[in-house]
Amino acid sequence: MKILSVASEVFPLIKTGGLADVTGALPGALAALGVSVRTMLPGYPSVLARLPKKTKALHSYADLFGGKARIVAGTLDGLDLIVLDAPHLFDRPGGAYGDGSGVDWPDNWRRFAAFARAAAADIASGAVGDLRPDIVHAHDWQAALTLAYLRYDEQPSPPSVMTVHNLAFQGQFPASIFPELGLPPQAMALDGVEYFGGVGFLKAGLQAAHAITTVSPTYAQEIRTPEFGMGLDGLINLRAGHLHGILNGIDTGQWDPQIDPHLAETFSAKSLKARGKNRRAVEQRFGLDADASPLLCVVSRLTWQKGMDILAAELDAIADLGARLAVLGSGDQGLEGALLAGAARHRGRIGVVVGYDEELSHLLQGGADAILIPSRFEPCGLTQLYGLRYGCVPVVARTGGLPIR
Ligand code: ADP
Ligand code: GLC
Repeated sequence: MKILSVASEVFPLIKTGGLADVTGALPGALAALGVSVRTMLPGYPSVLARLPKKTKALHSYADLFGGKARIVAGTLDGLDLIVLDAPHLFDRPGGAYGDGSGVDWPDNWRRFAAFARAAAADIASGAVGDLRPDIVHAHDWQAALTLAYLRYDEQPSPPSVMTVHNLAFQGQFPASIFPELGLPPQAMALDGVEYFGGVGFLKAGLQAAHAITTVSPTYAQEIRTPEFGMGLDGLINLRAGHLHGILNGIDTGQWDPQIDPHLAETFSAKSLKARGKNRRAVEQRFGLDADASPLLCVVSRLTWQKGMDILAAELDAIADLGARLAVLGSGDQGLEGALLAGAARHRGRIGVVVGYDEELSHLLQGGADAILIPSRFEPCGLTQLYGLRYGCVPVVARTGGLPIR
C-alpha cells in the first residue's frame, strides 16, 4: 500500500513540535508493516539546502498562487520526500509559520493553500509521474485543504485520512480569501470550507476526510465536548462514526538511551547508575547545586496549553520543597520572563534555558529524575513517552494522551 503523507513539518528536516516527530517516525514504522509512505513537505530553505543541487523537477508551475514553483522528489534521512519548491511562499528566514519572533506570516493561508492544492491536484490525483497513492493522509490544518481540493475534484480521488494533532490550531481566515483558493463556489458552504462566516482549513479537512484520527483515544473523546472542541465539537460529533483515537508511538531509534549520542553517558534499564553522569551534566548546564535532592525538568513550548503559567506560579513552592528544577523551553515572552525571574530568585535550585535545543532535550530526559507536564489539554504529548523510555518519571496532568489509562 502506498500512502501520501502531507505535512508542514517532518523531523529531522523541520520541527516546531511533536507533529514533526510523528510525521518523521511513522514512515519507518509503517515500512516495517509493508506500507510505503511518501511525505509531501513545503520547500523551506532547510529542506532545499539538503537536496542535491541538480535535483530534477517532476513538475513545474508558471504561476502557483502568485509565483513560479516546482515539485521535486528526493530521499533524505531515510524519508521519501516530495517537496514543493515555491520560493515566493517558502524561501524566507525564520520558522515554518512565521518570522521567528512569534508573529505568523500574513500569507499563511496562501502558503498552505498552494501546498494543499499541489498535493491534491498534482500528486494525489496521479497527474505527476507514478506518484498516485492508495491513501492520502493529511496532518493538521496546514495540510487539511488537500482533502477539500480532492473532494471538489471531478476525478475520482483516493480515500483520505485527516489526523488532528492539535485542535487549537485551525487555520481560520476571512471569507475574502475564498475566491483565490480556486475551489468551486459550492465549496463555500456549511458542509464545505465555510467556518463561522470565514474559511476554515481544518474544518474543511474534517468535513471532507473519509476517516478522522486524533493522536490519543482520550483526545478523540475530549474533542466531542464544548470544553475541548474549540468550536468544532458540533462537526466532530456529526462525524463521530468516522473518528478514531490512535495513540502516538515514538521513534525508539532516535530515543534510545543505550545509543543516544546526545547523552553524557549512555545507559539502559539494567545500568541506571550511568544516569548519574547525565545528572551532573544537567546540573552544570543549568547552574544547579550538586546535591542528592530530586531533580525535576520541563521540556516544552512555553504556552497556556502546556500549563506553563501554572508552573511559573509554583516555582517558589517547588524550591521550598527542596527539589531542583531545570526548564528548557521557548514561546510566550511573558512566561519566559516569569520563569527566568523564578530562576533569579532561586539560584542553584531553579535553572532556565530559553531556546530550542534538541540535544539538551535528550540530556534532560537522561539526567533528571522526573519531567513535569501540567498541560491544560494535550492531544497526545511525546515528552512523557520519552521520559518513560529514559527513566525520567512523568508527572502529568490527567488529560489527553498523558495519563496511563
Ligand atoms: P507539542 O507538539 O504540543 O509541542 P509534544 O510533547 O507532542 O508537544 O512534542 C514536543 C516535542 O518538541 C518533543 O520532541 C520535545 O522534546 C520537543 N521540544 C519542545 N520544546 C523543546 C525545546 N525547547 N527544545 C528542544 N526540544 C523541545
Ligand atoms: C501536537 C500536540 C501534542 C502531540 C503532537 C504530536 O503538537 O500538541 O500533544 O503529541 O501534536 O501528535
